[in-house]
Amino acid sequence: MTYQNILLEQPESGIYLLSVNRPKVLNALNAETVSEMESAIRTVSDDRNARVLLVTGAGEKAFVAGGDIAEMQGLHAMQAKTFSQQGLRVLRSLEQLAVPTIAVVNGYCLGGGNELAMACDWIMASDKAVFGQPEVNLGVTPGFGGTQRLTRRVGTAMAIEMITTGRNVKAEEAIAIGLVNHVYPAEQLMDEALKVARTIAAKGPVSVRLAKEAIQRGQHMDLDSAGLLESEVFALCFATTDQKEGMTAFVEKRKAAFKGE
Ligand code: HXC
Repeated sequence: MTYQNILLEQPESGIYLLSVNRPKVLNALNAETVSEMESAIRTVSDDRNARVLLVTGAGEKAFVAGGDIAEMQGLHAMQAKTFSQQGLRVLRSLEQLAVPTIAVVNGYCLGGGNELAMACDWIMASDKAVFGQPEVNLGVTPGFGGTQRLTRRVGTAMAIEMITTGRNVKAEEAIAIGLVNHVYPAEQLMDEALKVARTIAAKGPVSVRLAKEAIQRGQHMDLDSAGLLESEVFALCFATTDQKEGMTAFVEKRKAAFKGE
């Protein structure tokens, strides 16, 4: 499928790369771009050979510099609500993808861009990355989940500080507050992301998906229910040929050849 505002590529088997591709406006998210992202996410979701999704921004300057301010400028309240709900729905579908997702943040990661990054499972950043929720500079609040996901990632106090001051955070501080997992020199970032993607793609595919699901669902449960969920997904692994292959390969001192079934 060809898109106008994004690219969806498979640089290697099982590894998807979704790039927001509007570099002239620092990859700002307009409604059409968000809609194309929804279709791309569905493509990844429907592919049982998918192993991991990387999300990035085209060009060298930005991951995504936010919602498209020029497009939002003239919206009335109900249109703004529709746009917000579209973004919330699409980012939730990204968050709920069965395969691990990594935001590969190569520059400005602001507003809706930071919300997109936080809808991924974790963030790898370049040393030039800048994170923030600057919506209050424009007289609005975050609208694609920032008030909720930033709070869950960095805690209430830091989220309120960032959102109410609009202060940007550079990559090293983003690590310190738990927003970013790792920082790399800009020119190494995509290679490092592909290395991680290859690592994940080589593991038992069913176990990777089930582990992500247990973590995501379990964090909203009490510990006993979450423990029960864990023992159920653990048991389910024993219904797969991948578990037989993985454990047999260990005992036979060879590399496992997983089939994802
Ligand atoms: C539309 C944008 C944009 C955006 C940049 N551009 N960000 N267009 N929406 N969010 C455009 C600029 O207008 C400019 O177009 C071109 O991209 C390059 O940007 P410059 O500002 O010239 O670059 P620079 O001086 O380097 O500054 C970079 C920047 C700045 C600091 C990132 O662009 C900036 O502050 N952008 C806005 C960031 C922001 O407020 N984001 C939150 C948006 S609200 P021209 O045509 O002049 O070359 C949001 C809410 C989402 O995200 C949820 C909604 C429901």
